[in-house]
Amino acid sequence: MKHSTLMAVAAAGFAVSMMAASGPVLADGAQAFKKNRCAQCHTVSGKHTIGPSLNGVVGRKAGTADGYKASRYSKSMVAASEKGLVWDAKTLDAYLANPKKFLQDFLGDPKATTKMAYPGLKKEDERKQVIEYLASQK
Ligand code: HEC
Repeated sequence: MKHSTLMAVAAAGFAVSMMAASGPVLADGAQAFKKNRCAQCHTVSGKHTIGPSLNGVVGRKAGTADGYKASRYSKSMVAASEKGLVWDAKTLDAYLANPKKFLQDFLGDPKATTKMAYPGLKKEDERKQVIEYLASQK
């Protein structure tokens, strides 16, 4: 293949990947949400299952999913909510990395715990994908 043809092919490929840029992020996010087991306990549709629906969770006060009874949340989640915890990219990143430890640190209480039976999503890039995905679900 001539050099100029190669350049044209590369440019076309780049253009296609740019056009699809908003697509793959969400596709990866949805995949990361499934792959890391979130979907076993959460929907993003507003329907509550084992855990509260995560629809609109980004920007929401912790422990306040509409229609999910406050009594279903752990005492620690309610306490964190009362202390002003709001889910944003930063707090979600820390919570998802290690749910129990995050609440213990946030509340300054080594006995704090969460009903989310999940050890944590350790891969930083996948946490980021999941959070971007959640931010788009409202
Ligand atoms: C085994 C079931 C289970 C899995 C797996 C799970 N969660 Fe949860 N999650 C819960 C439960 C139950 C709660 C309520 C926690 C509490 O009250 O302490 C919760 C709470 C949350 C909250 C706070 C919601 C609110 O209304 O304040 C977020 C955000 C969240 N989970 C995200 C995720 C994400 C993202 C994943 C995957 C990386 C995940 N969860 C995996 C069960 C689960």
